[in-house]
Amino acid sequence: MSSEAGAATATIPPSGEGATLLEVEHLRVLFPIKSGVIIDRKVGQVHAVDDVSFGLREGETLGIVGESGCGKTTLIRVLVRLIDPTSGAIRFRGQDITASGRRQLQPIRSDMQMVFQDPQASLNPRKRIGQILATPLGIRGVEKSRVEAESRSLLERVGLSREALNRFPHEFSGGQRQRIGIARALAVNPKLILLDEPVSALDVSIQAQVINLLDELQDELHLSYVFVAHDLSVVRHVSNRIVVMYLGKLMEISPAEELYAKPIHPYSSALLGAIPIPDPKENRARSRAVVSGEPPNPINPPSGCRFHTRCPRASEICRSVEPALTEYEGGHLAACHHPQHVSAEEIAASSRSPASPLSAGEEEPQASGGNSGGNGARQP
Ligand SMILES: Nc1ncnc2c1ncn2[C@@H]1O[C@H](COP(=O)(O)OP(=O)(O)OP(=O)(O)O)[C@@H](O)[C@H]1O
Ligand code: SF4
Ligand SMILES: [Mg+2]
Repeated sequence: MSSEAGAATATIPPSGEGATLLEVEHLRVLFPIKSGVIIDRKVGQVHAVDDVSFGLREGETLGIVGESGCGKTTLIRVLVRLIDPTSGAIRFRGQDITASGRRQLQPIRSDMQMVFQDPQASLNPRKRIGQILATPLGIRGVEKSRVEAESRSLLERVGLSREALNRFPHEFSGGQRQRIGIARALAVNPKLILLDEPVSALDVSIQAQVINLLDELQDELHLSYVFVAHDLSVVRHVSNRIVVMYLGKLMEISPAEELYAKPIHPYSSALLGAIPIPDPKENRARSRAVVSGEPPNPINPPSGCRFHTRCPRASEICRSVEPALTEYEGGHLAACHHPQHVSAEEIAASSRSPASPLSAGEEEPQASGGNSGGNGARQP
């Protein structure tokens, strides 16, 4: 490994141009499990987000993927401080907001907005769209006399007609409701929008329209996105980089196209193998690395590498030593003792990332004899 190992900063630097917007350092969220009729006793804890570090630059889209329960929603909820972290640090535009109180968070809450999976549930069914948009516009300080005009312009910006102002959420389709959710987020002029599975509940054709809208808005308003999905097919075209999570841990972080062409972590390969290909012939012909079984219990996660109970490449070291996050060429990082699709030379040139979990071992990744790697790389 190169001598860069153990460099100064703890966070993974965001890739590409642009100032750093958000930094997350060794972030943990452990939910206590309590039991007892009269006195609450803590009997365990759910490892929802467990020592995760990354950075995000202005104008960047970071995709976050992983199976149900791996901690995606918890991660973005703690970033906007809807829940408190157990430990670690969150910095937004250089300001440490890890322990900020409600007052200190107020101006930052406008800079960071959330869009939810279920637009039906996130819009108040008893309020007209005009009323729904008036609240955030008021927070932004828009004068009462200007609220209606601003609301109309927001609706037009997300591709809805001005008449929508007087209607109720149930009068719209799922895709239109999601556009309203996006308009509400835009009303406060945010810098960052955290989208929690924003298109999962929509038909495929509508998904593409909403993703195109997000793309246009990003260019127009220079927004940054954290885009959560449980499936790698959705985030491919929207993300600059993608984070793969498993059982609360960061397994791989990579420039988007690189992840599809050359997944280094076996779990990423398994997620790629689960993406359906429309052509049945091509589907049958490709070699799939499908992960078997259910994820283990996050209350009592496996020792060593959390993925070892389901990994086809697992060896003795995987069961006892947590792998460090290793940085390969091109800002591609993976936490695996037996990385795939990397040569012995690439491993020799790699370095241990300072964003490695604090409990990770010192062991370096082992070359597997060339870059054959067992699980075939999918071509982009
Ligand atoms: N308030 C809570 N109290 C206790 N456990 C929780 C709480 N919220 C989430 N969890 C647990 O934390 C883990 C991560 O949950 P989270 O909702 O973040 O996962 P997710 O990746 O968003 O899943 P999905 O794809 O199903 O939305 C799960 O095991 C979940 O049961
Ligand atoms: S460290 Fe071992 S168990 Fe974990 S992903 Fe790599 S090969 Fe599989
Ligand atoms: Mg979720």
